[in-house]
Amino acid sequence: MQSPVIDVRLLELLLDRREPTPLPAIAHALTLDERTAQRELERLRRAGCRLDEHPHGVRLVQTGITAWRDYLEAIPAAGRPPGERHVAVYRQTASTQEAARELAVARGRDADGALAVADEQTAGRGRLGRSWLAPPGTGVTFSRVRTIAPDDASAVERLTFAAAVCVADAMATLLAGRAVVSLKWPNDVCVGERKLAGILVETAQRRAGERFAIIGVGVNVGLAPGDLPPELAPRVTSLAMEGVEPDRLAVLAAVDRALDDALHRRPLDELLEQWRYRCGMLHRHVELWSGGRPVRGQVVDLDPHAGLILRTAGGELLHLPAATTSARPEG
Ligand code: BTN
Repeated sequence: MQSPVIDVRLLELLLDRREPTPLPAIAHALTLDERTAQRELERLRRAGCRLDEHPHGVRLVQTGITAWRDYLEAIPAAGRPPGERHVAVYRQTASTQEAARELAVARGRDADGALAVADEQTAGRGRLGRSWLAPPGTGVTFSRVRTIAPDDASAVERLTFAAAVCVADAMATLLAGRAVVSLKWPNDVCVGERKLAGILVETAQRRAGERFAIIGVGVNVGLAPGDLPPELAPRVTSLAMEGVEPDRLAVLAAVDRALDDALHRRPLDELLEQWRYRCGMLHRHVELWSGGRPVRGQVVDLDPHAGLILRTAGGELLHLPAATTSARPEG
């Protein structure tokens, strides 16, 4: 692990307070002398962070991705000694799913909790062969590695729903009551009918007995209506379109912390309760596509291990797994 280039505590402080902060207050909060605090501010600038000088102090306008790795490495990840998680930040990569898969295959169990993050993906992908579009600088796109037991048949199912719940919770916190965040089976985090974030869970294998889930998350942060092709624009929203403009690093960190909690600490029952609360489809009559066929019925509940439970007009109970179910025909 390389030693950090920036003072992570300083970045944290400036991310928390988005208003100008006087140098003496910064120095005091970090127990530094003012000259050292000034030097650390310079380091942040060199790492690409934009800082404004005001008569009343310094304000962080935007983080630079060069500072992201240091910051993310310092976020505690369950089962990892502090500061000892692998974080790879790319200015451009095909897909963070592939980057995270490579990390897992190269490092094995040591990759648990590892993150691959990109400013821009050239071949970002969604579920069922769809693509995930996010012009550079507008979103958060990352994948996190999670080791899973070789015989855990329902890992993808469980992790898809757990990740969707915690991403939705993180979005609701960031939106602070400005909009209602809901979940659409299996992986859409929405405001009304518009998608704000999506989750893609895939698996990777290193050798027999070493299996991983690669949990990919895409969040639309600063995306504006004109950034998308006209056919997508009506179905998509972003935090900015909903009225908040957090820094992308703050969004990434909030989602990563929520994921850590959901994967390692929150009991399945509690996540399921939260899914029921957020699910905009519960008890509604819906049409979904499963295994390439349309399926109609009333949403009864979710089985975290087997998928959405639907009651058809004939009274039959169907389980629709996350991996093969979609709100629209595939493609
Ligand atoms: C979906 O809504 O269908 C899932 C979207 C998942 C997108 C994320 S962005 C980061 C990671 N890398 C990818 O190529 N896809 C996932």
